[in-house]
Amino acid sequence: MFVKKGDTIFKQGEKGRQAYLIEEGQVEIYHTLKDGQETPLAVIGQGELFGEMALIDSNFRSASTRALTDCSLLVIEKGQLVEKLNSSDVVVQLMMRVLIQRLRHQNQSKSGILLSEISTDLNTGDAVEKLKLENQIYQAFKNNEFVIYHQPIFNFAKNKVTGSEALIRWDSPSKGIVSPVMFVDVLENSSMIVPIGYWIFEECFRQYKMIKTHKPDLDFSMSINVSARQFIDPHFINQLETLYKKHNVPPQNFKLEITERILMEGGLILDLLAKCKEHGFAISLDDFGTGFSSLQYLSQMPIDFLKIDRTFVMNIQKDPKTEAVVSSIIFLAKKLNLKIISEGIESQTEEAIMRVLGCDYGQGYYYSKPQDIKTFLNTIEG
Ligand code: CMP
Ligand code: MG
Repeated sequence: MFVKKGDTIFKQGEKGRQAYLIEEGQVEIYHTLKDGQETPLAVIGQGELFGEMALIDSNFRSASTRALTDCSLLVIEKGQLVEKLNSSDVVVQLMMRVLIQRLRHQNQSKSGILLSEISTDLNTGDAVEKLKLENQIYQAFKNNEFVIYHQPIFNFAKNKVTGSEALIRWDSPSKGIVSPVMFVDVLENSSMIVPIGYWIFEECFRQYKMIKTHKPDLDFSMSINVSARQFIDPHFINQLETLYKKHNVPPQNFKLEITERILMEGGLILDLLAKCKEHGFAISLDDFGTGFSSLQYLSQMPIDFLKIDRTFVMNIQKDPKTEAVVSSIIFLAKKLNLKIISEGIESQTEEAIMRVLGCDYGQGYYYSKPQDIKTFLNTIEG
């Protein structure tokens, strides 16, 4: 949008539908007092944004604006801005609302005019809940309340359990076993996942040795979930090496379960995956088919195992299209020399179908729910 020198862009007290980014020129932001006099608030230039406040808090324009020079402005619609804010972290949303409220108060006390009532109801609920949960997770970690559960992975060729997926659980003294849906998302999206992730590795290495002591002849492989944040931690590979050497366990018997989200982090990931493989770790692509599944990842990334998401197995008996998709995925995976693990197997029929379609391993309630290490040790065969 082009605005000529001296033109008003909008006036204080109006409703706002658009914000503006200055591509070229200068804009003056000012208040008009009761007697019609103007007081300048700011002069802003190239690259700066204005008119965002009324869009974010749905209140009236807090000031008037006019072009000090000829201006070229990029118009941003309310939807564009609000959409981005709404999809951001709840704590970021709260901070934004707080800052805008503070600015409105400051403007108001400077100019002495009341444009409109400034809402003090910030609706802090979600943000407070999230911050509280983060604190609780941190405390739980310090108090050693996290435990590792194992869900068996059944080997179709050998007809027995030859592995497990290690899963984090929160054993809270007050709440009992807390479901991972309550905290894993918050955990994985905070920097706490880095130290907690290393704790998970150490605990898995210790438990692997317990399993080997219990069943020395079993060629056992443990799958460990690695979140994107932990994977791209600059110390990840070195730390992993330190830990497996410290615990004296063979990396060949561990699979790193990563999701497609990690692969989207870009070129750097290819090197990291290659380094993990140099150390001997296998790579397993988790939840395949749910996210941004790109077939390109399958051919370009050094992956060894593919885990077909449980939603496919859930629908496979009802829906011939699902079966067509699953058998194509398996066909392709086989061509690429990947081994296939089917998640979510809950019945003998589902196992039979996945076997016929060419899966190599099964995981799901049909075999067992995730179990604590003691129970797990008692159920696996040698
Ligand atoms: P909005 O309230 O939509 O309309 C007026 C705009 O002026 C406001 O959004 C901000 O972009 C900007 N603005 C308000 N107060 C100030 C200030 N004190 N300094 C700089 N810019 C301001
Ligand atoms: Mg997993």
